[in-house]
Amino acid sequence: MDEPASHERRIRSFVLRQGRFTPAQQRAFDEHWTRYGIDVDPAATAPRDLDALFGRHAPRVLEVGFGNGEQLLHSARAEPARDFIGVEVHRPGVGRLMNALADAGVDNVRLYNHDAVEVLEREIAPASLAEVRIYFPDPWHKKRHNKRRLVQPAFLALLASRVQAGGRLHLATDWADYAEHMRDVLAAAPDWRVDAGHADPAVRPPWRIETHFERRGLRLGHGVWDFVHVRT
Ligand SMILES: C[S@@+](CC[C@H](N)C(=O)[O-])C[C@H]1O[C@@H](n2cnc3c(N)ncnc32)[C@H](O)[C@@H]1O
Repeated sequence: MDEPASHERRIRSFVLRQGRFTPAQQRAFDEHWTRYGIDVDPAATAPRDLDALFGRHAPRVLEVGFGNGEQLLHSARAEPARDFIGVEVHRPGVGRLMNALADAGVDNVRLYNHDAVEVLEREIAPASLAEVRIYFPDPWHKKRHNKRRLVQPAFLALLASRVQAGGRLHLATDWADYAEHMRDVLAAAPDWRVDAGHADPAVRPPWRIETHFERRGLRLGHGVWDFVHVRT
């Protein structure tokens, strides 16, 4: 996709490794992209009309970097009254999730195979989301790579602009150093306050399941921290 020059200079939170793209995943794109996929429209002058996209008006949850999509599939089935928007740059994960969604007959999910920062900026209208979830974002644990971390003051401000007042932001990580960074950046963010009902980072909220990355972290002896904040 052609991108404006300004985007080329941005520090990204990911490095695209296409990895293995199986025939099943290719088939997923051929068969299901028109049902579940959304292409970022570089010529659009207005945000996406989500009511038109989902064919209804409902609370909307956006998950950044859904990986293989285990959580999205689980949530969409568990909460049919809400719509779910998944954003993931890793193409095989998108294909895998589309196959799973189609097999399960789930219809309240739409997916972007694109950088979440650009999706939020260009496609998502201000105050249009009920919740944003970012589970186990890449930790970029080397000091010189810390600047690639997704959770930064400017990104939290962008999220605050897209989430409705009273809406929620839920972050989880298994890296102690990233957890500390998240806690500090959230504490300094003017638009987010701790959700009093979910104030203990050591307690996993009931709606979040244990995912592949989390299990790997636990096997390695990592802790897990959940941060649930409310848009003021
Ligand atoms: C460590 S994985 C965690 C996956 C999943 N949330 C889980 O818990 O199993 C982080 C994911 O975020 C994706 N990612 C990183 N930066 C992103 C961005 N700016 N936009 C969309 N996806 C991104 C990566 O491709 C990767 O799949």
